Amino acid sequence: MTLLAVTPRFHKQFLLARNAVRYCNELHRDFGDFVLARGLLDFYFLNSPDLIGPVLLNKEGTIDRDAEKNKIYERLRNIGRTGLATSGAQHWRSQRRRIAPLFTASAIRGFAETMIATGTEWAERWAVRSQDGEPFDMKTEMNELALDVNTRCLFGAKLRDEQARLQSWFSAMKAYIEGFPYPVLGEWWFPSLLNLHTRSALRGFDRYALGLIKERRAAPLDPDAKDMITRMLSARDPETGRGMDDEQICHEMLTFLIAGFETTSSALLWTFYQLSRAPEVEARMHAELDSVLGDRAMTPDELPRLDYTSRVIDEVMRQTPSAWFMARTALQDIELGGQRISQGSNMLMSIPTLHNNPDVWPDPGRFDPDRFLPEQVAQRSPNAYLPFGRGPHACIGAHFSRQELLVMVAALGRRFRVRRSGPDIDPSDVRPGMSMYPRRSLRVRVERRQATTAGAASRV
Ligand code: HEM
Repeated sequence: MTLLAVTPRFHKQFLLARNAVRYCNELHRDFGDFVLARGLLDFYFLNSPDLIGPVLLNKEGTIDRDAEKNKIYERLRNIGRTGLATSGAQHWRSQRRRIAPLFTASAIRGFAETMIATGTEWAERWAVRSQDGEPFDMKTEMNELALDVNTRCLFGAKLRDEQARLQSWFSAMKAYIEGFPYPVLGEWWFPSLLNLHTRSALRGFDRYALGLIKERRAAPLDPDAKDMITRMLSARDPETGRGMDDEQICHEMLTFLIAGFETTSSALLWTFYQLSRAPEVEARMHAELDSVLGDRAMTPDELPRLDYTSRVIDEVMRQTPSAWFMARTALQDIELGGQRISQGSNMLMSIPTLHNNPDVWPDPGRFDPDRFLPEQVAQRSPNAYLPFGRGPHACIGAHFSRQELLVMVAALGRRFRVRRSGPDIDPSDVRPGMSMYPRRSLRVRVERRQATTAGAASRV
């Protein structure tokens, strides 16, 4: 039985609105792992693997994202519509069956060459940056990079010319999703400027994506297609044999973009930031990159040998995970941690708060990729580390993102160091929107590095 603490009504609600991650950290510090937070909206806050595991796994089918009723998801649903992250239970089940085979580790390997080609082009861009030595904003840079690689893989290379339009549609949708759901003013039917702007961005995206889908349908089907749209055209629900119509594919493409673009950008930003303040970790990673890749062009076959680089990314996503919250609703009365939770109750989990819980992660402020050595992982609960969630709604793009992050960190990290320009930021002072970024802007420079001959030589 886990003790349930109850907060005074409206306890620190101002902080919840301003910085929800800090609010959750303080909730944990002041009240523990299992808290009923009372305010405008009551919810249970869960922060231990024992409580979170059963909620995410939902073996009894009594808990769900309940996307059709949950206020937290309503704004997301107006954008994602019938896509995987926002559709109701029945539709979601058949969509998940249809789409999951496109995102397995082996299916995702087919994107490795596109990812490597993108990383190589960005290394050329960084060569110019390293020569001119001008500081730049890391968030803007990583946003552009993530949009570039995601659109090339998901939509096909042609979209590169459309990035400015995509970026502006995306910004409008993001402003809406992150907006406060005021009564009346915030309703989707209300003709506020924000709503009108968002609807126009949605129309723009739909027109564009539907045009691309039609184009691909008209072309002969290519089983080795390198982009996700073409792969989706032949996806079938294994139980019913039915495929997807154009509108459904369009909703999924937008879902993938929204779910995958800023999360990747934020993970890359935090990785280069952490490397810049941990010289020993950085040196060890460089030695591995030099040893495995030498000075040759990178190929997909080498990726599985980048063990330490992968552990660096794992540790970054522990301390500063890109996706910061998961929410669920009890579909009926349930028991959790020995307490009765009544039907309709909302449950909130903050991934960074769990990943920095000292009862689960000793000395959580220490950046140590070796926490992810297999023998260390084996000693922890599988519910202690959840950057991609767990259970039926776990991130469908997890293999895609891991491969994408590994390629980008290797392609840029083997040639460059990122150095802060200006004062350090506080990594615990974050802005949790759709993804978790530092609150203050991070200005950096890149410096070219030489591969160590010892490292390069040991590869042969
Ligand atoms: C670093 C990158 C990423 C992170 C940290 C991340 C994190 C997550 C997390 C934590 C969830 C679970 C949410 C929950 O349980 O409520 C999730 C779900 C999801 N993610 Fe990701 N994600 C990333 C990239 C991607 C990419 C690249 C795609 C698609 C191409 C994607 C598509 C989705 C979808 C569709 C869902 C909903 C799955 C469902 O409900 O069936 N994500 N993601």
